[in-house]
Amino acid sequence: MASRKALAISAPLLGRILSRNQQAATAVASRKLSTGARNYGAAAAAEKELENPLKPPVEIKYTKLLINGEFVDSKSGKTFATHDPRTEEVIAHLSEGDAVDIDIAVKAARKAFDEGPWPRMPAYERVNILNRFADLLEKHSEELAALDAWDSGKPYEQALYGEMPGVVRNFKYFAGWADKIHGRTIPTDSGHFAYTLHEPVGVCGQIIPWNFPMVMFAWKVAPALACGNTVVLKTAEQTPLSALRAGALALEAGIPPGVLNIVSGYGETAGAALTHHMDVDKVAFTGSTEVGKKILQAAGKSNLKKVTLELGGKSPFIVCEGADVDKAVELSHFALFFNQGECCCAGSRTFVHEKVYDEFVEKAKERAVKRVVGDPFKSGVEQGPQVDKEQFNKILGYIKSGQEQGARLLTGGSRLGSKGYYIQPTVFADVQDHHQIFNEEIFGPVQSVTKFSGIDEVIKRANRTQFGLAAGIFSNDVNEINTISRGLRAGTVWVNTYNIYDTSLPFGGYKQSGLGREKGIYALENYTEVKTVVMPMINPAWHPLSSSRGRRDRVGKSIPRHFIHDD
Ligand code: NAI
Ligand code: MG
Repeated sequence: MASRKALAISAPLLGRILSRNQQAATAVASRKLSTGARNYGAAAAAEKELENPLKPPVEIKYTKLLINGEFVDSKSGKTFATHDPRTEEVIAHLSEGDAVDIDIAVKAARKAFDEGPWPRMPAYERVNILNRFADLLEKHSEELAALDAWDSGKPYEQALYGEMPGVVRNFKYFAGWADKIHGRTIPTDSGHFAYTLHEPVGVCGQIIPWNFPMVMFAWKVAPALACGNTVVLKTAEQTPLSALRAGALALEAGIPPGVLNIVSGYGETAGAALTHHMDVDKVAFTGSTEVGKKILQAAGKSNLKKVTLELGGKSPFIVCEGADVDKAVELSHFALFFNQGECCCAGSRTFVHEKVYDEFVEKAKERAVKRVVGDPFKSGVEQGPQVDKEQFNKILGYIKSGQEQGARLLTGGSRLGSKGYYIQPTVFADVQDHHQIFNEEIFGPVQSVTKFSGIDEVIKRANRTQFGLAAGIFSNDVNEINTISRGLRAGTVWVNTYNIYDTSLPFGGYKQSGLGREKGIYALENYTEVKTVVMPMINPAWHPLSSSRGRRDRVGKSIPRHFIHDD
């Protein structure tokens, strides 16, 4: 494989995409490549390269549904195709699950929960199995990253060096929690002995999107399994391949049959069946706000299953007055364009202080022109194609509306090449608050820059949105940073950095960006129920108000005996 060697050379550089040094790394990458022919500014050369897609370094081995420890056809025998966003051609046909298959998978998960070893085994055994699973995911990182790049169009190097280490770490992190999940003993006014148990919720339905297939798999599956639950996972129809491969590794690691079931299929059929199912105890979802609302309704209409939602965003990235413009441009570029702009917390509203605005706008354009767009399997590529035709058309529609509503198009604005879903990195300046591109989630490589003049103003405008997922602040002034970060209504605020997704950090949204928090210690609450156990404690050694003849209330008065039922 010719491209393998090339990939190895630039690995250390791009491997830092999501590390602390990510901005520096991308800056170096862009400088190095800016003289080459592959950046989108050299459009003709870039387009020519797209004509000859590289062969992905992976073989597809799993296309059936994973139910009760076996790969099986869907009951209907139906299949669906997943497509290569570089070429629009079919990659593979997969078994298409629907309501019937979801029901079979839920029954398997129910049995594994009610009767199987997973929730009952000593927690340390779960620790060991989950660690084994993490090790296998690490060993097969190249394969899993290649499946994600092929299915979604994300750069292979980004998937391999930027995402897979986080996937592995996620499983190790939650494996570490698995034997440390426990309740409290609680002193009571009445002298009763009381304690809590943190028990698994039961059967968890998990529905994931296509923009980070393996990362979403890890964020959902790892905490659920660590707490002793069983899972039915519905992958996105655009990117079903990597989870099935990972499912086979889960079996190899010793996760018992029925504990992790994976059903490929569409949202309106398989997804909806999972959310309406009467025997699913909890649903976790990442995707659009529109579908998030349907899921909450489905829970209300069925069995009031517990719901966590991680939904859309329109996150502000605020560049303050004294900012180093070059650094601010690089970071805001990364905040928006990372993963083709297909990021729930993309910094998609760039607010720039009027004192640095003109310089910023000019440099933001230059940076976008230098962005390396191309075959995701080519080394050094920063941006691949969008995931599918629907997203591609949606983004082009937003670009058109930006132009029609009077935003100033600085660069980009069209597709790149004649096949596949490549879009030119696009930058709009002078975007106004009422513009559609400033209010709705574009989910593509389109940066919208607007001018502001004061801190109170920018906080107010940044908060004027239905969303509240994330925000970025770029400033050297600690007072300014504190004022803005406290003023913003967002689940995550990144200061002088962006896109840091450490496993230990809770992630989720205010307002219509979601319900609940994933990752970190907070994720454990999503996957456990608290049981309170209370019993009488007769003559305890240390209870000052107890007596052998009955109890007293907390101010010391005797409680009449006929009120005491458990003495
Ligand atoms: P979507 O919300 O329709 O899809 C996400 C997942 O939900 C997929 O697995 C899908 O099959 C499933 N789904 C769809 N309808 C369902 C239903 N009625 N019941 C249960 N599950 C259902 O998102 P889509 O259509 O792929 O993208 C539309 C927009 O949503 C994007 O342009 C973007 O703005 C946003 N989005 C946000 C994501 C995030 O990370 N928060 C991820 C993907 C999309
Ligand atoms: Mg949809």
